Amino acid sequence: MDLLIKNGTIVTAAETYQADVAVDSGKIAAIGTDFDEADFTEVVDAKDKLVLPGAIDGHTHLALAFGGTISSDDYYAGTRSAACGGTTTVFDFAQQEAGERLLDAAKRRDAIACKDAAVDYSFHIGVGDVSTEELLDSMEEAVEYGIPSFKVYMVYDFGVDDGSFYKVLEKSKELGALVGVHAENKDVNSLLVNRYLSEGKTSAWWHYMSKNELVEGEADVRAVNLAKMAQAPLYIVHLADKMGMEAVTEARKQGYPIFAETCPQYLHFTNEVYKRERGRDFVCSPPMKNQESQDALWDGIANGNITTIATDHCPFRQEEKDWGITQKDGSPGNFTTIPNGCAGVENMYPYVLSQAVAGRISFNKAVELCALNPSKLFGLDHRKGAVRVGLDADLVIYDPQKEFTITNEAMHGDTDHTIWEGVKLKGYPQATYSRGRLVFKDGEFLGKRGDGQLIKCHRLEFKGPEL
Ligand code: URP
Ligand code: ZN
Ligand code: ZN
Repeated sequence: MDLLIKNGTIVTAAETYQADVAVDSGKIAAIGTDFDEADFTEVVDAKDKLVLPGAIDGHTHLALAFGGTISSDDYYAGTRSAACGGTTTVFDFAQQEAGERLLDAAKRRDAIACKDAAVDYSFHIGVGDVSTEELLDSMEEAVEYGIPSFKVYMVYDFGVDDGSFYKVLEKSKELGALVGVHAENKDVNSLLVNRYLSEGKTSAWWHYMSKNELVEGEADVRAVNLAKMAQAPLYIVHLADKMGMEAVTEARKQGYPIFAETCPQYLHFTNEVYKRERGRDFVCSPPMKNQESQDALWDGIANGNITTIATDHCPFRQEEKDWGITQKDGSPGNFTTIPNGCAGVENMYPYVLSQAVAGRISFNKAVELCALNPSKLFGLDHRKGAVRVGLDADLVIYDPQKEFTITNEAMHGDTDHTIWEGVKLKGYPQATYSRGRLVFKDGEFLGKRGDGQLIKCHRLEFKGPEL
């Protein structure tokens, strides 16, 4: 066999126990305690370390054309960075163009991703045009191909109206698919933007104010109600506010298959960051919210109403963030001319696991949120999400004692800054394996461009809030 990871403590969402992991041909071949080392090409000692499933980041935007530029991590840089933070699968977005069949959108993106990705990946297909029956029906061929996950935006110029959102929800129910939603009230947001700009309020703080707790919360509530009406499952991405958290919690209590994702940036930072000198570096949508909302998200994690953590990794370089001061053409900028998004793919698993070291959550919970639940929710639990015989050997050896201070210098993406600069973590990944291949060890990326594969996902059936 290829590899034995011995003496480690295995952590899954359900269990913590001491055992050795045998890997062969990219799969977890056996788990036990009495292997003969002579049977293995390589033996790794994981004494005093945890052996975890690789994380699945259900929300990245690699090489995304957005905000007048392109997000600064392409599929190589983004997946390289992912591997170095213990993330072994990323879900990117393939946004449909007007008139385009949905599977074609995914194939268009895959043509780029397959050459560059260093870890495995899949897609959520962003639905922008269901103006004909044929386009709506094209969801089916995507599901059959192995991409049963769609996304709609309630904001942005490529967002959809409530009628189209409802149609997509109904169709997803029929097909065994899941719809994710970026929920913010588009009309109120644009009204507030115009008001603040006319009053000369241009700083990053006004980005937050124009997308405040209620602007997001109203849309979350509406999205939940549309899903209830359509009797369809729903996944709210990057949930950041208390009102939305309450709507999700209530719907789940009533038995609806409503799921929520939040992101480390909402768990760690509050809207105070927009008062910083470089508050523009933190401009993302939705923006960080007040302390009350952050507390509600942590409560949601504790009581099981947050189902996943993902990053919304969408980095832009500082010179692009500076367009909020002076635009490309030299004219004065404002909060609307800052590209929206931040880096985070390398920070998610280390940050969430550090919260387990600190005792805020358990290691099992960290694994559930970052690995098991996304694998079940997006239909790749036949391949990923646990340390289990037969699954891909996507494994992380984690050192709970290591002290690590996040700096951009120590990150492995192509971005020139990080909003996480200076944040101190206790515990850090020591090594990451992607299908049995060592892709990260002791701070160094060891993977290869193009080694990542598109993972085909199975149909999704959710009868209630349990996965
Ligand atoms: O600010 C963000 N999140 N940019 C990427 C697009 C989105 O809304 O997720
Ligand atoms: Zn979004
Ligand atoms: Zn996003």
